[in-house]
Amino acid sequence: MRCDTVWKDARLATLIAGDPGIVDHGIVAAKDGDIIYAGPAADAPMLDARHSIGCDGRWITPGLIDCHTHLIHAGNRAHEFELRLAGASYEQIARAGGGIVSTMHATRAATQDGLVASALPRLDALLAEGVTTVEVKSGYGLDIETELRMLRAARQLGEARAVRIATTFLGAHALPPEYADDADGYIAMLCDVLVPRIVALGLADAVDGFCEGIGFTPAQIGRLFAAAASHKLPVKLHAEQLSNSHGARLAADHRALSADHLEYLDEDGIAALARSGTVATVLPGAFYFMNETRRPPIDALRDRQVPIALATDCNPGTSPLTSILLVMNRGATLFHLTVEECLAGVTRNAARALGLGHRIGTLEAGKRCDLAIWDIERPAELVYRMGYNPLHARIWSGQ
Ligand code: NIG
Ligand code: FE
Repeated sequence: MRCDTVWKDARLATLIAGDPGIVDHGIVAAKDGDIIYAGPAADAPMLDARHSIGCDGRWITPGLIDCHTHLIHAGNRAHEFELRLAGASYEQIARAGGGIVSTMHATRAATQDGLVASALPRLDALLAEGVTTVEVKSGYGLDIETELRMLRAARQLGEARAVRIATTFLGAHALPPEYADDADGYIAMLCDVLVPRIVALGLADAVDGFCEGIGFTPAQIGRLFAAAASHKLPVKLHAEQLSNSHGARLAADHRALSADHLEYLDEDGIAALARSGTVATVLPGAFYFMNETRRPPIDALRDRQVPIALATDCNPGTSPLTSILLVMNRGATLFHLTVEECLAGVTRNAARALGLGHRIGTLEAGKRCDLAIWDIERPAELVYRMGYNPLHARIWSGQ
């Protein structure tokens, strides 16, 4: 069988569901950017490869996936961090005109090139840890022009680097000052004007919202989701982060790809996610940075076999975090996820949270050849260390 590249003498963690996924003497072969074989060397077909790369027994995992980020934004909120250290709460700061709206002002003042330039160092930090796909949300423009600019900047990141960018329209992130006291009017504008524009321009792969006391009500999010559905755009939701607004059930009722955060998720919400096959994306960086004490109900999610993904939630307010390895460590230490769950959370289940489960997230024939090659003795090292990066090489689409 002819192929472009074969990686030999490797140990594989394939992350295929229902499979231990560990291969001791493994190889991966790629052709035209797709995996054509991943598995034991002994079972491989005869391969006629143009390039053969010896891995000296290193481990290969699927390229890592950060399935929830706000990577595109201007400025930072170190000052609000200082206020929180002095005792102010996130909600107090938001209600006093800080929070998401302060980043909105900075983002509205930035050019598209400026947004890209400020996001690239954050993106590069992720790529340096073996990330090959990143989801990027809008949501700091909160007006037509800036939301479009954010999504264009996100797409531009995918041209500037060898990475797959999935874009998400998060216009329903906070209420902009122009619509003070008219959240319904703002949601109507998103549904009637912005969603159709974004669809016509092909700028978003999904639609997201913030269902919360300081965000939007389930009824408002429901209208947004109906507009998304009418344009065949999949949805996801920031749900149950600071209180239980029953956003997870709403998301599940709309067959959402994922419901994210979920600290206040209840039994009813868990059952709804299990029924719809919606991924539960947990964000230990935000939990940690906000000094939360209430953990997402991991045991119940596990019992109901809800797929769990993990992501950085990289954003200036609640999670200024650009390490997917630290996310895995925090997932294990703070949320008591197993090593296997942490790895699946940034590969197979993260792919599913983006609707890309058929293309990426595991090492198997037919998927895109996105690989991370690691200088480790066992996969647990990826979760165990803090602030150490054992990446040897990163392969994106076979390159
Ligand atoms: O995922 N919860 C809402 N959105 C972000 C926070 C954004 C911000 O504070 O700038 C989050 O935590
Ligand atoms: Fe978020």
